[in-house]
Amino acid sequence: MLTAKEIRESFKAFFESKGHQIVPSAPMVIKDDPTLMFTNAGMNQFKDIILGNHPAKHRRVADSQKCLRVSGKHNDLEEVGHDTYHHTMFEMLGNWSFGDYFKKEAIEWAWEYLVTVLKLDPNRLYATVFEGSSSDGLERDNEAAAIWGQFLPADRIINGNRHDNFWEMGDTGPCGPCSEIHIDLRSEKERKAVDALTLVNKSHPQVIEIWNLVFMQYNRKADGSLEALPARVIDTGMGFERLCMALQGKTSNYDTDVFQPILKEIAKMAGTQYGLNTQNDIAMRVIADHIRTISFSITDGQLPSNAKAGYVIRRILRRAVRYGYTFLNQKSAFMYKLLPVLIDNMGDAYPELIAQKELIEKVIKEEEESFLRTLETGIRLLDKAIVDVRAEGKDSISGKDAFVLYDTFGFPLDLTELILRENGLTVDINEFNTEMKKQKERARHAATIETGDWITLKEGSSEFVGYDYTEYEVKILRYRQIKQKNQILYQLVLDQTPFYAESGGQVGDTGVIVSEFETIDIIDTKKENNLSVHITKTLPKHLDAPMMACVNTDKRTASAANHSATHLLDQALREVLGDHVEQKGSLVTPDSLRFDFSHFQKVTNEEIRQIEHLVNARIRQNIPLKEYRNIPIAEGKELGAIALFGEKYGDEVRVIAFGSSVEFCGGIHVTATGNIGMMKIISESSVAAGVRRIEAYTGVKVEDMLDSIQDTLTELKSLFNNVPDLSSTIHKFIEENA
Ligand code: ALA
Repeated sequence: MLTAKEIRESFKAFFESKGHQIVPSAPMVIKDDPTLMFTNAGMNQFKDIILGNHPAKHRRVADSQKCLRVSGKHNDLEEVGHDTYHHTMFEMLGNWSFGDYFKKEAIEWAWEYLVTVLKLDPNRLYATVFEGSSSDGLERDNEAAAIWGQFLPADRIINGNRHDNFWEMGDTGPCGPCSEIHIDLRSEKERKAVDALTLVNKSHPQVIEIWNLVFMQYNRKADGSLEALPARVIDTGMGFERLCMALQGKTSNYDTDVFQPILKEIAKMAGTQYGLNTQNDIAMRVIADHIRTISFSITDGQLPSNAKAGYVIRRILRRAVRYGYTFLNQKSAFMYKLLPVLIDNMGDAYPELIAQKELIEKVIKEEEESFLRTLETGIRLLDKAIVDVRAEGKDSISGKDAFVLYDTFGFPLDLTELILRENGLTVDINEFNTEMKKQKERARHAATIETGDWITLKEGSSEFVGYDYTEYEVKILRYRQIKQKNQILYQLVLDQTPFYAESGGQVGDTGVIVSEFETIDIIDTKKENNLSVHITKTLPKHLDAPMMACVNTDKRTASAANHSATHLLDQALREVLGDHVEQKGSLVTPDSLRFDFSHFQKVTNEEIRQIEHLVNARIRQNIPLKEYRNIPIAEGKELGAIALFGEKYGDEVRVIAFGSSVEFCGGIHVTATGNIGMMKIISESSVAAGVRRIEAYTGVKVEDMLDSIQDTLTELKSLFNNVPDLSSTIHKFIEENA
């Protein structure tokens, strides 16, 4: 029987033999794409290629990608664990063709891999093809059906609708028909009794989709219409855990070697066994699934927090703790104890787990403990509500109260119901659902961005010239309108741009574009699918006029000083606190810098002083910048730069060195450290267990700060001057009160 590890390797080897470049998984947490928080499909890391923003370096690529889905067709977080084949985190095996092969090879190789290489029983396989759509004016995908016809009888090639068999990257953008391969894993007896043809795409746990082959050949425009895509793309995704289930002769993903060791450990902790009790099994599956998600998110740099991606991770963690608490009697932190078994199981393929074990354990343990305290507060509130309801002679608590418990105290409805049932009470579920719906709508409204189609003025790709220039003559290549929170904005793409787009922790440049007719403010510059977009409130009237793009150099210079100071700070932190210090996040703005790093206790005042001394000494040495552009990553490592977990590096990288401070970095820097002026740490705090945050000022900001301290001192002095004889007053006070 093939192990999970062997299966992963065999996929890569097969596609390598078909001329594919094998690439590493991108991080699961996405940092520089405002449209996505987590990688949810193998194709995410190739979006810029698929959109035509950048040419493909390799036209055939394959990999195994860490993915996270907490919403979508079947991946509602609340459902995961209840069935045996959906997950929050999963691995997607995929192969891509960027303008190279198309349907024929994609289908033939999928079949060859499954049937000839892996020896899956061809009689248990089914293919679906797109049935066509009159609203889109598309016919049935007869081309795909004919290719499948070489391998499958016509009745096992099933038509599927737009929902199941037309894959879209988003509301707009590249899309196309897809063909899914489904497998029937039921016993012969069950197969005889009910024909699998009636079960495909019907949420049967053993008749499931394993591989989706997407044939991207259209571009969906904002008005909903389709146009042909110039370079057609193959994008496939196979569920790794499901493939393991099929190959290991199991009927649940959780029975494979991907999950069994984790489940055994959970059962041991809870003093039970997996497979004895439905409710406990669900709880164990939830925990086994979620521990992977949480651990991988932390290694990729996303800590649990109160906002955005961090909040998603916090919710997942709390869900697992709650299942353990309610069903497996885990009343104190327990999830963090699963790290050793997870590492035994996956550390080989993902060494980032091994390298960051201590941090992951600490973060999870602290989150668990803090949530358990919240749970207890919630239980006390619920107890009070029960007393109140009884006093009023009612037999149910309001849905609004249940929603507050859910929303603020992480109390899912079923837990509230369970406790109420034990007290002979119920909850107004309709009211609860109404509150939930309202909240979802609020969230949707806040997050909605309406994007118009790109209007192309000039073909071509965009080049960043901002390392060498802050002003440049440019032309607009394309633009579009976006609407966010009722504000209309425009995004412009320039042929060349000196504007730095927000990334790597450094905020985007602001400035103006000036033509002989008008001056337009650029209020921000962001990266979207590797494309620099310049954001304006008004659209230039003369779109094709030559323009000068001018960066606001005051802000740029201040950001550069803060960015370079961040590098010196990182270096000094390692020197003073030790080599365990690793960057966990940063924010560089014109005003200040913020640096998060792994360290297990508070940084003492003495250490802060040493760190400042080291940084300021290097500033005074005026160490010149050494910049290495587009060098191979191996060369960067030789220079001493350390690759961070959770960062995506291309084959070619940029390295920034100031003497012995050497980092991979795409940001903007001073030409010599003296330009930073001075660095002053203004705060040190905790972000999460094992992660500290330092905020600091440089240059003029330090001067401003010193000025304001000076003002305060002067004011204090004048106050004291008004007290005739302070020391005798104090002595008198002491005497009288002693
Ligand atoms: N991108 C396709 C999917 O996620 C393969 O199903």
